Amino acid sequence: MRKSSQIYQDDERFALAIGNVKFRNNFIVASGPTVKWKEQLVLAEESGWAGASLKLAFEPEPYISLPPRYRWFGKEKYHAFTAEKRLTFEQCLKLLEDGRKATRNLVLFANITYVGDKPGVTGWEDMARKAESAGAHAIELNMCCPNMSFNVALSEKTRTAQTGASMGQNATVVSMIVEAVKQAVKIPVFVKITPEGGRIAEVAKACYDKGADCVCSVANRLAIAEFDIENINQGPYRLQDEPTLACFSGPWIKPLALRDVYEIRRKAGKAPFLLGTGGIASARDAIQFIMCGADLIGVCTETMLHGFDFLPKWLKQMQEFMDRHGFKNYREFRDLAVDKITSADKLTLHGGYAEVDLDKCTGCGLCSAVGHCNAITIVDKQSRIDRKKCLACSTCVDVCPTGAIRMVATGVLEKKS
Ligand SMILES: Cc1cc2nc3c(=O)[nH]c(=O)nc-3n(C[C@H](O)[C@H](O)[C@H](O)COP(=O)(O)O)c2cc1C
Ligand code: SF4
Ligand code: SF4
Repeated sequence: MRKSSQIYQDDERFALAIGNVKFRNNFIVASGPTVKWKEQLVLAEESGWAGASLKLAFEPEPYISLPPRYRWFGKEKYHAFTAEKRLTFEQCLKLLEDGRKATRNLVLFANITYVGDKPGVTGWEDMARKAESAGAHAIELNMCCPNMSFNVALSEKTRTAQTGASMGQNATVVSMIVEAVKQAVKIPVFVKITPEGGRIAEVAKACYDKGADCVCSVANRLAIAEFDIENINQGPYRLQDEPTLACFSGPWIKPLALRDVYEIRRKAGKAPFLLGTGGIASARDAIQFIMCGADLIGVCTETMLHGFDFLPKWLKQMQEFMDRHGFKNYREFRDLAVDKITSADKLTLHGGYAEVDLDKCTGCGLCSAVGHCNAITIVDKQSRIDRKKCLACSTCVDVCPTGAIRMVATGVLEKKS
């Protein structure tokens, strides 16, 4: 973990406030292994991050908490793990106190889960009150972690009390906890929810209706990582034997995470705050999340792989983007994609056909192998496309290694309803 080499200058165009909590820009270090120590918080602040959501703390112990075993699959662009160490609640409270003393502007979130059997919602309320007293600027209710009861229930036949992603699918329960915690503390209440169960927008809406100050979407997706087909006893992790259902993050989940943000924004309307997370690895990714409805941007995997000090570069690129388009603040481009994303029955399609530039064609034959196409043959070691048979799908453009094929448009097709 290196010291930040770039000092970030605040830019009012990025600033926002949720309740009485001010964020100097849109970027939050999302809860995970890069928000476990005071020194990480200091580095994050020096690099210009607006906030940090501390590593999940749960109460009471013992619950699943193991030494970390991570794996970054660079080619596939996903990060996966199952073994992970959480904070005890005592460690979380101490980190909040130390973090408040060591930083000035960094917004600190307590990312918490109650897993005990105190009646009703009292366990959640107690945790939130203690976190507030220890200095948390905001609470982030963890209704998202797929690596607790959800993992256990999917991997075994046993059922355990619902926590994290399995509880997070239940709009009634989640929103009831939100409502109770809102009444228990004065600081803003964020709730981080899960797409598992396919009801993320509904759960988000229920949380907003019960007073959530911000919904956060999303955490890891549960999936199965690459494994060795010659030895299925051995999972892909170093110093860990078994294959597992694993928590996926990184660029691989970005398209799904963008959809989740979009769905929530559509369902919840323009007013509420939304924190978008999932696979963000560049300023461009962050801009896409904002265009799909996010106010704040959470980043975890990228900070695990590269530390914190890429943020000034991202902010500069965002400033340049805003200058190019004349945007005075992020709100002016928030939701732009939400308004543009068109339903499948209203698309504008152009008629056309594929055409080969014979000077660029090497006759490799890749285009003629396209399984759903009957229009291409190789004649005299060159591609020939029959326009009458061409459906204009454009797959051949993508498979051609020399860029020899282009689509020719012939006019807008009549829309069918
Ligand atoms: C190793 C690891 C640990 C994580 N721990 C937590 C956690 O304690 N609480 C939480 O809300 N999210 C946790 N997350 C989820 C991240 O905050 C984030 O939502 C998710 O990884 C997607 O973002 P990313 O692609 O930028 O990593 C963790 C992610 C990783 C990779
Ligand atoms: S894939 Fe491209 S280079 Fe190969 S035969 Fe087709 S047009 Fe020619
Ligand atoms: S555009 Fe589609 S249908 Fe037309 S030639 Fe290419 S692959 Fe075949």
